[in-house]
Order: sequence, then C-alpha cells, then structure tokens
Amino acid sequence: MHLQDIDRVCADFYTSGIAVWPGFISLQEADILREEIKKQENSLFKAGIGNGRNLQVKSEIRGDFIKWIDEGSVSPFSEIYLNKLKEIIAEFNRRFFLGIQKNEHHMALYPAGSHYDRHVDTFKNTDARVVSSVLYLNSNWEKAHGGELVIYPENAAARVIEPRAGLLALFESTLPHEVLTSQVPRYSITGWFKRN
Ligand code: OGA
Ligand code: NI
Repeated sequence: MHLQDIDRVCADFYTSGIAVWPGFISLQEADILREEIKKQENSLFKAGIGNGRNLQVKSEIRGDFIKWIDEGSVSPFSEIYLNKLKEIIAEFNRRFFLGIQKNEHHMALYPAGSHYDRHVDTFKNTDARVVSSVLYLNSNWEKAHGGELVIYPENAAARVIEPRAGLLALFESTLPHEVLTSQVPRYSITGWFKRN
C-alpha cells in the first residue's frame, strides 16, 4: 500500500467521516472474491435488522442475504483483503485514537430488486461499532445497475458511492446511509471495526 493513499484516506476520513479507495483490490481479486460468494450462495441467510433480542427480518427495509466470515476459516483471498484493511484501521487508531480492538465481516448479496433503507450501523443498546467498511465486487458496474451507497453526513451534501469492483468505502458507523435498489445481483464484503 502506498503511503500517499493511506495519507489521503486518513485525511478524507478525518475531515468528512468518509473515505473511498477505488482499486483497493484488483479486478482479478474482485472476480475471485465474487465467485467465492456465488459458490456459497446456498448458505447465505436473510439479513436482519437490530441485534440480540431486537433482531427482526424485514425485506421491505433490508433485502440482502449475508454470511459472516469466520476468522478461523477465511479463504486466502479474503484474508489478504482483511489484512490490508486492518492495516488502514491500525493507521486510523494510531492517528485518531479510535481505540478499535475488534472487527467482524460478512459477505453480502443483494438480489436484483433489493435495497437497504436509510439507517445507521450502530445499535440502540451499544455504540461498539466505530467504522463501517464495504468492499464492492461487481465488475462492469454501470449506472443502470443502481445499488449505490448514499451516505448523509450531518453538515454536508449526501455522498453517492458507486459499487464498482475493487472499491473500498470506509465511513463512521454513526452516519446515516442507505443502499439504493440494485437492478442486478450486488456482491460485497461488509465489515465493522469496534471498540470493546
Ligand atoms: C450495511 C450497509 C452498505 C453497502 O450492511 O449496513 O449499509 O453499500 N451496507 O452495502
Ligand atoms: Ni449500513
């Protein structure tokens, strides 16, 4: 990873709570990770909203299917991605004293026609999630495919992030955001960096 890239990502995250890194992984790597998700499509499950006793499944709010990535059995390519991602978060910790100690990640598939309503990634009963990360895996994405991530910072215009293969989005988990309806199956790896 180039120091200029890290510096730019840290500066963007510091000033706006949002940082975008196109080409964080190569298109070939994105293809491999997307195929890994496709192969496991049958073991993905319908994502819920809330946590613990507050967990609810509501397709009209959230349409994606997910599978948590188990640290003990990560595929080699996912591991390379997760390790690169952890390096950035270590840098955030070092520069901004975020105090992040843990992370969790899941694969996600939004079937054609699904979306995720505006929400925040922090739960009502705990603020452990500090930074949200999303790595996009759709090659040949075009506008007609939709499925953009839209983030709503408090004192700035909404940011529209196109879900192009290899692009990494990082944002503060407290920022409201939504996933617009995707017209095609949309593949990604989503994660959270947390305090204890
Ligand atoms: C989420 C989420 C954004 C995206 O899973 O909480 O907001 O672009 N995902 O997939
Ligand atoms: Ni979210």
